Amino acid sequence: MTQYTVAQLLKQTASQDVDIKGWVRTFRAKRFIALNDGSTLNNIQCVVDFENTPEDVLKRITTGAAVHIKGELVESQGQGQAVEIAVKSIDILGDSDPDKYPIQPKKHSFEFLRENAHLRTRTNTFSAVMRLRSSLSFAIHKYFNENGFYYMHTPIITGSDAEGAGEMFRVSALDPKNPPLNEDGTIDYTKDFFRKETNLTVSGQLEAETYAMSLGKVYTFGPTFRAENSNTSRHLAEFWMIEPEVAFMDLAGNMDLAEDFMKSVISYVLEHNSDDLEFLDQRLFDEDKAKPQAERSEMRLIEKLKFVTENNFKRVSYTEAIDILKNSKPNKKKKFNYIIEEWGADLQSEHERFLVEKHFKCPVILFDYPADIKAFYMRLNEDGKTVRAMDILFPGIGEIVGGSQREERLEVLKEKMAALNIPEEELWWYLDLRKYGTAVHSGFGLGFERLVMFATGMGNIRDVIPFPRTPQNAEF
Ligand code: 4AD
Ligand code: MG
Repeated sequence: MTQYTVAQLLKQTASQDVDIKGWVRTFRAKRFIALNDGSTLNNIQCVVDFENTPEDVLKRITTGAAVHIKGELVESQGQGQAVEIAVKSIDILGDSDPDKYPIQPKKHSFEFLRENAHLRTRTNTFSAVMRLRSSLSFAIHKYFNENGFYYMHTPIITGSDAEGAGEMFRVSALDPKNPPLNEDGTIDYTKDFFRKETNLTVSGQLEAETYAMSLGKVYTFGPTFRAENSNTSRHLAEFWMIEPEVAFMDLAGNMDLAEDFMKSVISYVLEHNSDDLEFLDQRLFDEDKAKPQAERSEMRLIEKLKFVTENNFKRVSYTEAIDILKNSKPNKKKKFNYIIEEWGADLQSEHERFLVEKHFKCPVILFDYPADIKAFYMRLNEDGKTVRAMDILFPGIGEIVGGSQREERLEVLKEKMAALNIPEEELWWYLDLRKYGTAVHSGFGLGFERLVMFATGMGNIRDVIPFPRTPQNAEF
């Protein structure tokens, strides 16, 4: 007998013996088990011959219990499914106390489910989101693999601060209660495990650059850590980032790559995860109906995904964007209250959302930002004040990708590092790339959870990663 998943069983023809294990979603009228095994949103209906099943077994068929069912796949009399299982034997593998089991067969709030993150994938919404997360991750590897990129692993523990923003989690083997001290009272890190200060990586970019400058086209896809204390629906302390890096590619090539890549991975899930997407699309649509008109989204989820794959991203320089913002009127109703901005300022999320959702109404690639608000490694433009940076802004998300052409000129890079007090000794290996066979190269970082948010329509980043790490929260 072939061991099928529920997803596979639902596509089989009737009149065959089947064998299935899963978790009971509901048990009705002592007869109908809705069984789910995580392979699909859909449950398979298993019909119990209750007259010939002992009462003590029937009692143990409860929501959440793990069961092993053997029976015959037959045509279903009921509506909503073509086939069902006529149960011949049922084995209770793991009981579940129906009074205590947190995931009741009813609608739970996302806040409640976050507190039960270990069980929340037993719901339709979270199982759909996590199947999509898995599928997107596969689509990402597939894209790079088919386009001649090498997958490389960059260190998690590092001595450098790639973004220069100082938002790092320290890694130390010293006793925090009794660390060795220097004469001035500061901690003596030369006595630490690595004999210097180290931290969890904020980005694999600098290491990826070294490999791009030998293997040509590479990418990383790994966990990154930021100790920024931003308690928002779009920030995590631990998130996954995809970072391609390509030799001999300039900023225009970088934008082309990013756009093609984003379209490709979104097309992949549109093609391969239609059941889960349709479910999430309907869920959001129902949720939207309860909101006041002004807060409803203009497009449904699937429509929004298709729109991204079928339309060009709008490319706009930072300077043009500032002009647009200056010439726009605040709109209290749409929550774009303070859209006026001066050249040189970093864009706030409300500015980004205004540009994407109100002005252009499509994904936007902003490029050539002021040097002062961007990282040290970005290529200085000939105007001496802007850098070849690009951010991709998505509707409902804001910044989803950040990237740039890298400064390939040794002297210019050294000057920039000196101006920002970044010691050359710390990045001697990074400077070596500019000494030996330097070349134009570029790359970007995609925040994986922001992509999953976009693809699933989920509004809070904590709901698209299995066990979210946020300020004050590392429960699981
Ligand atoms: O813009 P960021 O900081 O860029 C870099 O780290 C570059 N080194 C990338 C590169 O060029 N290789 O981060 C890149 C993306 C952001 O656009 C955002 O999507 C995501 O990472 N991101 C976060 N996602 C969740 N939580 C956070 N705290 C994030 N910080 C950044
Ligand atoms: Mg950024």
